[in-house]
Amino acid sequence: MQEGEIKVAVLGAAGYAGGELLRLLHQHPKVGAVRAFSSSHAGQPLSAAHPSLIHVQVAEFEATAPKAAAEWADVLFCALPHGESQTIIDELLTDNTVLFIDLAADFRIADTNRYEAYYGAHTAPHRLGEFTYGLADVLGKGLAGATRIASPGCFATACLLGLYPFVPSLCGKSVCFGITGSTGSGAKPKPSTHHPARAHNLFAYEIDGHRHEAEINHQLAQWQANGQCRLLPHSGPFVRGIHATLSLVCEETLGDSIEQLHDAYAASPFVRVYDTPPQLAAVVGTNFAHLHATRHKREVIVTCVIDNLVKGAAGQAIQSMNLALGFDETAGLTFPGLFPC
Ligand SMILES: NC(=O)c1ccc[n+]([C@@H]2O[C@H](COP(=O)([O-])OP(=O)(O)OC[C@H]3O[C@@H](n4cnc5c(N)ncnc54)[C@H](OP(=O)(O)O)[C@@H]3O)[C@@H](O)[C@H]2O)c1
Repeated sequence: MQEGEIKVAVLGAAGYAGGELLRLLHQHPKVGAVRAFSSSHAGQPLSAAHPSLIHVQVAEFEATAPKAAAEWADVLFCALPHGESQTIIDELLTDNTVLFIDLAADFRIADTNRYEAYYGAHTAPHRLGEFTYGLADVLGKGLAGATRIASPGCFATACLLGLYPFVPSLCGKSVCFGITGSTGSGAKPKPSTHHPARAHNLFAYEIDGHRHEAEINHQLAQWQANGQCRLLPHSGPFVRGIHATLSLVCEETLGDSIEQLHDAYAASPFVRVYDTPPQLAAVVGTNFAHLHATRHKREVIVTCVIDNLVKGAAGQAIQSMNLALGFDETAGLTFPGLFPC
């Protein structure tokens, strides 16, 4: 490890988000040592869970040891299923100075009532107020010095990036029609992620109240927006990515919708605005979000595409790390995508 390089630990490293963290961290210029923790793959090489990491020259997975990881690391990424990080947080974050970045939903919603309405009881509600919601492309340097970051959900990221530029003009309910790829459900096979059920298929799910609605509307309330957003999630026949189409009702005084996007994201290196609706494959494998907007009287239609595992998970979390530690925001994240993919 060279001087100035940091030590990073990943919990849940055998999962999809964990694997993507490992892929990106191993080519990050400020990251020295990386340790990967997994209960199911302890003692095995990274390629046992992530075949494409066969050329990464690091030690194997280690048995999950959250407290030891937090004591050793400068930065600890937690990529465990929802509900796990809230059960270990008090043991993890004692007197160490680790930057803790959680990719699960456990600490994304500071409002306990709203959290419990969607997720049930929280086991560490006293910690909810400690976290910054890491919507990196909006917060930017506002993340400097943060020590506890709750990384947004993938659907929520795409939806909020589409909503944010129009917040001052919103009036009434917005709707986000979102389609996700199968990696959004994690590495454990389920009937809804089985290839024959997923390929050449498209279906809605959780349309009566997907959990990401909670963080979307919590964030809208933080921004003092006039109105809430409904999320209509769909499962699409592809592996990576989220395509979000939003319908917003705005005040008549709103100016040109594309200019709104340009103005809102002028200082955001990973948000690109286009004159035509973006295509999903252009962002797959990247940390970029591509957006477009068009206006019909008071209705604004925004489209946003992201890679759920990069911008919607590992990439955004690393971007937050860069911003929190005062690194160049783009460090280790400017790689191009895969097209065709
Ligand atoms: N997939 C996405 O697109 C995405 C996007 C944004 C955020 N996230 C969030 O990131 C976190 C990880 O998501 P993922 O898609 O990577 O999930 P995943 O593929 O299922 O991986 C989660 C990992 O956590 C470990 N784990 C520890 N306790 C577990 C338990 N009780 N049950 C199951 N696994 C357990 C497992 O590894 P070991 O058993 O080996 O320890 C597993 O590999 C989740 O909170 C998810 O909501 C995911």
